[in-house]
Amino acid sequence: MIHLIPESFIEDLKSAIPIDSVIAPYVALKRAGRNSKGLCPFHSEKTPSFTVYSDNGSYYCFGCGKGGDAITFIREVENLDYVGAIRFLAGKAGLTVPETPGEENASRKRARILEINREAARFYHDCLNSDIGKNAREYLARRGLGRKTIKRFGLGYAPPGWDSLRGHLRGKGFTYEEMHIAAVVSKSTKYENSCFDMFRDRIMFPIIDLRGGVIGFGGRLMDGTGPKYLNSPDTPVFKKSRNLFALNFAKSQQSDLLILGEGYMDVIAMHQAGFGNSAATLGTSLTEEQARLMARYFRRVVIAYDSDSAGQNAAKRAINILGQNDVSVSVLEMEGAKDPDEYIKKFGAQRFGLLVGGSKSAMSFELDKLKMRFDLDDPEDKVRFLNAFCLMMADVESGIMRDVYIGQITKELEVTKDRISAAVQSLRKKKQNAVNKRETHNLAVFAQDKTEPSRKRPENPNIGGYLAEENLIALLSAHPDFYSEIADKLKARDFFDEGHRQIYKALSGRIAESLPLDPIHFSAQLTPGQMSRYSHILAKGREIRFERGQATEYCRIIIDQKDVRNSREVGEMPAEEFSRYITSLSSKKK
Ligand code: UTP
Ligand code: MN
Repeated sequence: MIHLIPESFIEDLKSAIPIDSVIAPYVALKRAGRNSKGLCPFHSEKTPSFTVYSDNGSYYCFGCGKGGDAITFIREVENLDYVGAIRFLAGKAGLTVPETPGEENASRKRARILEINREAARFYHDCLNSDIGKNAREYLARRGLGRKTIKRFGLGYAPPGWDSLRGHLRGKGFTYEEMHIAAVVSKSTKYENSCFDMFRDRIMFPIIDLRGGVIGFGGRLMDGTGPKYLNSPDTPVFKKSRNLFALNFAKSQQSDLLILGEGYMDVIAMHQAGFGNSAATLGTSLTEEQARLMARYFRRVVIAYDSDSAGQNAAKRAINILGQNDVSVSVLEMEGAKDPDEYIKKFGAQRFGLLVGGSKSAMSFELDKLKMRFDLDDPEDKVRFLNAFCLMMADVESGIMRDVYIGQITKELEVTKDRISAAVQSLRKKKQNAVNKRETHNLAVFAQDKTEPSRKRPENPNIGGYLAEENLIALLSAHPDFYSEIADKLKARDFFDEGHRQIYKALSGRIAESLPLDPIHFSAQLTPGQMSRYSHILAKGREIRFERGQATEYCRIIIDQKDVRNSREVGEMPAEEFSRYITSLSSKKK
């Protein structure tokens, strides 16, 4: 993506607000030689491996592999896009982001979309309260939603016609093109330049972001004549994977606990019952961005997904993703009801509150599920269960937790605790040995490479080539003058690793134009993931002393590896594919 923030402004930003001062509000940093260190904000750790390099304005965590420049950091912790992060930093530095014509257009476009959405939400809400909304009002009443709740959530009704909203918005001066970008109308496939209301005869749920803007909608059919919900697609103001329904309300509750539901109706029912600290994903499985967003405002998350198997599987995934952030996760087990909405209706808010208060930790939840798979009255099954249980416990890092659960199960099944503890210990030892073995192996291969986090290794590492790619990037970043030695020999597409390819493209481009090479200048072109990779390479490169001539050497290795790859791939091809391959080569040559 091309951003129109001028390079000179990035330079201003860089000098106005040094990386240490950008990171300091989030991480307690301690000087360590020329750099500073702190506890990583992106993963949980007890000893600091998050390193900030003031000299080139970058950071890198040796624990989780996240890294980048000031802009990337703000993107990640504040959950902003590139331009949003720049605005954020500029605000802190007291600078005004210059509005280039394109920029101005983009922000005006966003503002127009938000206006359209707000106007549409108002329109739907008015329809709900007018004659046309009688059925919808009755439906909501049947579902137990009161007037106050309907108003608070701004619920509405989209009339059945094809052009009700379209006509309304036209009257307010919006163009069809704008409505289409906001995704409140669909383009007709039959008639050119024609469009129709996207939501028809549906209960409308506006989705509101943390700044109070209406960013999208969910629309529910009242009968079963089609897919139950229709949701806004991603638009310039709406990214499904980055937002949670009702988080705008939940955030302002004085609670460190969030109840995470599966959908609109459950969350609304919970809010109405007094649980304002609930929110939901928007019809998709939980993403890492959503987990991080929750972790910013809450320390505990109780998952309240449907009790059917789809819901429970989704809960399992959510536990994993949330567990990687610093929140404690537990799971609600609703007996006698399929979801929070039904539970509250059947058993009342008070009992739901008790359930939330006593919600089981993710571990006992897993354990209960394991138990269900066995018939514990049958001696053979009991042994099988205990085996599976020991394997499960061997993965638990906390000794206290292991002790608690081993104690509980052995008491329950009337077996000797010592024996089970010993079995778990021996499994852990075996596991540890396997890890150690893997690590020694890695160390042998990556002898000079202490910093590479092992899980970041590519699946089928072509080790020599991969290292040569990293080293060449590190070398050129430190000695851009060596670039001329290889400029004609190597192209970005010769790189094996896609991330390296993008980094090399950006790097060689900037060197060729004699532009400054501080990491902050790369974040317009590279994704946060690629910035992490680049910071890793730079951090590692600090310990290497490069010499002239090495650039040519790395370049040779990279190209050799590529030839090996090609010949192997070609060797494995069936004849027919081979001839297609040859044709493709000759057409590429043009
Ligand atoms: P549910 O089927 O549990 O819906 O789907 P619900 O919100 O509880 O609604 P009621 O109680 O049946 O009226 C959970 C969520 O999954 C998404 C919606 O976000 C919904 O709230 N979903 C479901 C869709 O996006 N599309 C669908 O067709 C169904
Ligand atoms: Mn439901």
